[in-house]
Amino acid sequence: MAEPKINELMEKIVSLCKRRGFIYQSSEIYGGIGGFWDYGPLGAELKRNVKDLWWRTMVHEREDVAGLEATIIMAPQIWKASGHVDTFSDPMCDCLLTKKRFRADQIEPQSGTAYTYVGALGPGWREAWRELIGGDPPEERFVTLAPDALRLLEAFQAKTPATANPAWYDAAEFPVLVARGKHPEYGAKYARQFYTLRGTPDPTLILGGTEEVRDSTRFNPDNGAGLTEARPFNLMFKTVVGPVESDENVAYLRPETAQAIFAQFKNVLETSRQKVPFGIAQVGKAFRNEVTPRNFTFRSREFEQMELEFFIRPDEVIEAICGRVATVAEGSWSGEPQPDWGWEVWHKYWVEQRIRFYEGVGLPRTTLKEYWQKPEELAHYARATVDILFTFPFSKRDETGELTGEELEGIAARSDFDLSQHQRHSGKPMTVFDEELKAAWAKLDKPRQDDLWRRYCEARLKYLTKTARTPEEKEKAGAQARADADGLAKGWYVPHVIEPSAGVDRLILALLTNAYAEDEAPDDKGKLEKRVVMRFHPRIAPIKVAVFPLLKNRPELVAKAREVVNLLRPQMSVFYDDTGAIGRRYRRQDEAGTPFGVTIDFDTLGEKGPELKDTVTLRDRDTMKQERVKISDLPTLLLQKAR
Ligand code: GAP
Repeated sequence: MAEPKINELMEKIVSLCKRRGFIYQSSEIYGGIGGFWDYGPLGAELKRNVKDLWWRTMVHEREDVAGLEATIIMAPQIWKASGHVDTFSDPMCDCLLTKKRFRADQIEPQSGTAYTYVGALGPGWREAWRELIGGDPPEERFVTLAPDALRLLEAFQAKTPATANPAWYDAAEFPVLVARGKHPEYGAKYARQFYTLRGTPDPTLILGGTEEVRDSTRFNPDNGAGLTEARPFNLMFKTVVGPVESDENVAYLRPETAQAIFAQFKNVLETSRQKVPFGIAQVGKAFRNEVTPRNFTFRSREFEQMELEFFIRPDEVIEAICGRVATVAEGSWSGEPQPDWGWEVWHKYWVEQRIRFYEGVGLPRTTLKEYWQKPEELAHYARATVDILFTFPFSKRDETGELTGEELEGIAARSDFDLSQHQRHSGKPMTVFDEELKAAWAKLDKPRQDDLWRRYCEARLKYLTKTARTPEEKEKAGAQARADADGLAKGWYVPHVIEPSAGVDRLILALLTNAYAEDEAPDDKGKLEKRVVMRFHPRIAPIKVAVFPLLKNRPELVAKAREVVNLLRPQMSVFYDDTGAIGRRYRRQDEAGTPFGVTIDFDTLGEKGPELKDTVTLRDRDTMKQERVKISDLPTLLLQKAR
């Protein structure tokens, strides 16, 4: 079958999501609310399977990761320490005409002629002229053109404040872009709307000038109207804790789950009996007041994250203990973790682990890309960040026409920034004591000790000066860095961290778009018809198996089918369906992405001979092939296939 076009494909997926109960618009009966989505029965199962699988892979199957489930609202100081209060913002601008808000860095560049209207005169301007300036007003044809019109405006403004009477004039500036080939009247129409909305009825426009512009992002791409200057807009949702609405009671809905992990680092370390290197994992809701939520659930205002903070020894510690730090080029990152791994190898290891996870949930490696952020794109504390991209149908294409992909997950090597920030802001130590380091340090020769001491001191100094909040803190940075390096020599340090941070909702969207397929299947009369099938990996499919009695009106078939349901239900999600022709029932399950269908027919009852008694047909969703299987073998067989 021909491939559906990209936007058509997204439309089909969005419509299937609603039709089959994967995803609905939140508060739909009230017209919806932008950037919020609800997961229906199938979506809820899919999401649960994905989160469970992440937890199994990241926590249960490892000895070096412990879990956490923290609150969504935390002490606001956490967000001050993390930098979110001061810097977690998007540049934002508003359309001067419609007030629609845009992210300044996401505006499509446009070219054309920019008309700048410097004001407008209202219907009473002639009388105002006589009253305020005296004598006869100039002829109409002069007033719409600068400089005469400007002189007129200036004369008015000199006599009366700009807001005195909008029916006379309005001196606000309104730029508008008219694309090449379009009539200037196109811009004038919006300018008239602008002044009318501001209170000047039937405005006579005053044009200040025109300018040819190329690739400008200063205009609303929908109508060409000018945009306000970009201003930072903090993305955190604010709320108030307790009954008094005061500044001291302001708190935030967490914009990421990670900070709770840092804040609870010491508690988890002490209660989990873990030692660095180890990780803390958390899955949970995060909230960001995104300026432009878009692409279905891709950029939402409420979403879920699956985050791991994996704490490691600083490289100086590895060197002191192991005498060396392994390099990525040696290739050990693809195997089991080793004691001589520094941040670079741990980082590479987690990138590989995470890609394997995505493959394991059914996203082929060919749909995934690694984007290694360039040095100039990195946050000042980050040593490296890799974004794992998935090629969504709405992804942009590069110069070669290839889909570039959109971020599913970021894997960042964040140095000791986060724990250091919380140490500094809370006044509580975030250092760990490492017996092995203390013992190893004592055995190092003096030049080696000095070298490691100096390098650690320099790294701490860099952090401390960059993040100093007061001149005094900056002044004390040197002494503090030396104290930190002295601590290292005694076995103490602030752990560094590697952070694989994934979005649940983006992964669900990737799985939905990857699973969507159209092919042909025979109907009940054998005629080929179009089939929509969601080819989820059985591991994450919302329903693992559907059970169908061939005929609804044969109690023996129904009873046997119910028996099969009861056999399977304790082990997996099962759907029972006895309504409609069998082909239609298959089609419904194909759209739900159910990988297996079990049909109970007359052979199952032994009507065609004892050898087929208690066997059923097992249908594979993707190949549509059917095999005869013993009912008693079903649980093991299906569990094996869905593992
Ligand atoms: N703690 C690091 C952190 O939060 P991030 O890159 O801002 O890093 C991590 O977010 C992941 O969370 C992203 O890769 C994405 O999958 C998901 N995410 C972020 N903002 C989102 C949004 N507005 N809607 C849906 N998912 C989002």
